[in-house]
Amino acid sequence: MKDLYGNEYIDTMRALLRDERIRKMKDFRHHGNISTFDHSRRVARLSYILNKCLSLKCDPDTLLLGAMLHDYYLYDWHSDDWEHGLHGFTHPETASKNAKEHFGVNGKTENVIRSHMWPLDPTKIPRSREAWLVCLADKLASLRETVLGK
Ligand SMILES: [Fe+2]
Ligand SMILES: [Fe+2]
Repeated sequence: MKDLYGNEYIDTMRALLRDERIRKMKDFRHHGNISTFDHSRRVARLSYILNKCLSLKCDPDTLLLGAMLHDYYLYDWHSDDWEHGLHGFTHPETASKNAKEHFGVNGKTENVIRSHMWPLDPTKIPRSREAWLVCLADKLASLRETVLGK
């Protein structure tokens, strides 16, 4: 299992996990007591492993950055206020806007973020292998976190 993580993963993730803007996601709960930061890290790791195991040849930078920022919406969605609309439908757009503002992500990474809730929002379709993979890894990670609570 350890061999699955190449230098590209270690170097890229080290930089992302140290970034103060990304660490801000530690302040927000996502599923149960799991922070958005920990959830995103799990999605990034899972996406990377699936990419290796299935030989999908995804671009690791796009994959890992997209996975780490896919839920970069930066608010507590458990609060009662409706300022953010229906979270499940609106948060990919908020995360994408924040990612663009804070990190200047390109169009491909933007699509990874915006389409990760497909097919809940069938109008936001994943348009790359990276986007499909993050969409799948997010569902697997969310299922695990919801069922196991960790
Ligand atoms: Fe999400
Ligand atoms: Fe997610």
